[in-house]
Amino acid sequence: MKNHIAVYPGTFDPITNGHLDIIERSLKLFDRLIIAIAENPVKKPLFTVDERMRMVKESVKKYKNVTVESFDCLLIDYLHKRKAHIIVRGLRVISDFEYEFQMALTNRKLAPDIETVFMMTAEGYAYLSSRFIKEIARLGGRFDCFVPPNVAKMLKEKF
Ligand code: COA
Repeated sequence: MKNHIAVYPGTFDPITNGHLDIIERSLKLFDRLIIAIAENPVKKPLFTVDERMRMVKESVKKYKNVTVESFDCLLIDYLHKRKAHIIVRGLRVISDFEYEFQMALTNRKLAPDIETVFMMTAEGYAYLSSRFIKEIARLGGRFDCFVPPNVAKMLKEKF
C-alpha cells in the first residue's frame, strides 16, 4: 500500500492516545498521512477548531510525513481536493462497527474511487473515548494516562 496518501478524519475533541496509536500504525502502511479535523458543529466540540489544530499538531510533531488540516465540507470532497483515495478509521469495540460500516458504505456510494481502511485499535485503548475523557476532566478525575501531556494541559486549562 505504499505511495498512497491517506486521510485520517475525526473530530479530535480532544485527540487521545488511542488516536495516536492509529496514526503511528498507519504510517507503516502509507507514505503520507493527513489528519483532517472535522469542524463538526453538530457534536458541539469543547475545543475550537484552532485549539484542536494546535493540540493535534503538537501531538504529532515527532512524526514525519504527517500534516494536520481542518475541513468543513463532505469528507469525500475533501479527499478529492487533496487527491487522496484512502480514509483511515480506527475500530474500537463492536458498537463502532455499525456506525463505521454505514459511513464507509455511504462514502463509497458517493465516491467509488475512495476506500475506507479500518485499523483495530490497540487493546489498551479499546474502551477510550473523547467524551469520557472530557467528563472525567470536568468532574475532577485523573485523565493524564489517556492523552498526550500537551492535551492534558489544555484540558486542565479548560476546566
Ligand atoms: N482510540 C480511542 N478513541 C477513539 C479512537 C481510537 N483509536 N477512534 C475514535 N475514537 C473515539 C473518539 O474519541 C470519539 O469519541 P466521542 O464520540 O466520545 O467524541 C469517537 O470515537 C468517534 O470520534 P472520531 O473518530 O473523532 O470520529 P467522529 O465520529 O467524531 O467523526 C467524521 C466522524 C468526522 C469522519 C464524519 O463525521 C465526517 O466525515 N464528517 C464530514 C461530513 C461528511 O462527509 N458526512 C458524511 C459521512 S457519510
